[in-house]
Amino acid sequence: MRQIDNRLNKMIPELSNPCVLMRDPQRVQDVLRSMERAGSNTVQVISDFDMTLTRFKYNGQRCPTCHNILDNSKLISSECKGQLKELLNTYYPIEIDSSRSIEEKLPLMVEWWTKAHELLVQQEIKKDLLAVVVEESDAMLRDGYEFFFKHLHEHTIPLLIFSAGIGDILEEVIRQAGVFYPNVKVFSNYMHFDESGVLRAFKGVLIHIYNKREGALLNTGHFQELRTRPNVLLLGDSLGDLTMADGVQDMENILKIGFLNDKVEERKQSYLDSYDIVLVTDETMEVPNAILRYLTGNK
Ligand code: TMP
Ligand code: MG
Repeated sequence: MRQIDNRLNKMIPELSNPCVLMRDPQRVQDVLRSMERAGSNTVQVISDFDMTLTRFKYNGQRCPTCHNILDNSKLISSECKGQLKELLNTYYPIEIDSSRSIEEKLPLMVEWWTKAHELLVQQEIKKDLLAVVVEESDAMLRDGYEFFFKHLHEHTIPLLIFSAGIGDILEEVIRQAGVFYPNVKVFSNYMHFDESGVLRAFKGVLIHIYNKREGALLNTGHFQELRTRPNVLLLGDSLGDLTMADGVQDMENILKIGFLNDKVEERKQSYLDSYDIVLVTDETMEVPNAILRYLTGNK
């Protein structure tokens, strides 16, 4: 065990950071070796957005999700803010409750998303104010995001951001951060605006945290285009994120990196069982970035 750890730590020293947990370091080493040998032109990255690419906390304060960016904004009446907060207080504890199964949580998550979207639609939100709202928000990408996006762009590695958040908001966050490069593609919930630019509905099939598999299978065209990239790096923060790569064709290797942000002790074992690398209360992209450097031959 120690020998494996030593070799792995030589390959990627950041894997010995105290926030890194691995169920099976040998598997991590084998997968990384195999992906590196195949070359970075066989790699694709699939990442969740909220609390994976964005920070969970900053200075002890919770950072907003895409939904929270809107919920806390001047576009929402104070009465509606109260209702959205109530939904958050009811359903977020369920989202992170390790004593309930995914099957049990699923209908409750659909309920949360449906009720929240209904409330947002009632607010007649104007499309041209979204940029201002994002600018005025406390949204923060994780430390090291610049390298992550730039490196993937420079090595023409496709990045799919797969989010149960709000596509229009998410795109604005990465646009304002200057990292919405052409290799980035987004699957998310997009808003439908009428001809005067007022929010009337959400488009297409709802993506919530436990149906990413269905979302992936609806987008076969994207994965067909990327069929020459059977090596996947997956980044998530929820157990629902584990199915984001289910549409990948002829997959050869997958390395799953999970950010464990909240309720660490209760959830540690389930994260270790399902993610290859678990990052415990790590607000940075240090480990994913080190893995990307390794996969691109440290160039
Ligand atoms: P994702 O990170 O898996 O894409 O999921 C989006 C997150 O958004 C999930 O952690 C729950 C959160 N959320 C809110 O903060 N407010 C809401 O109103 C809803 C529906 C979700
Ligand atoms: Mg998330």
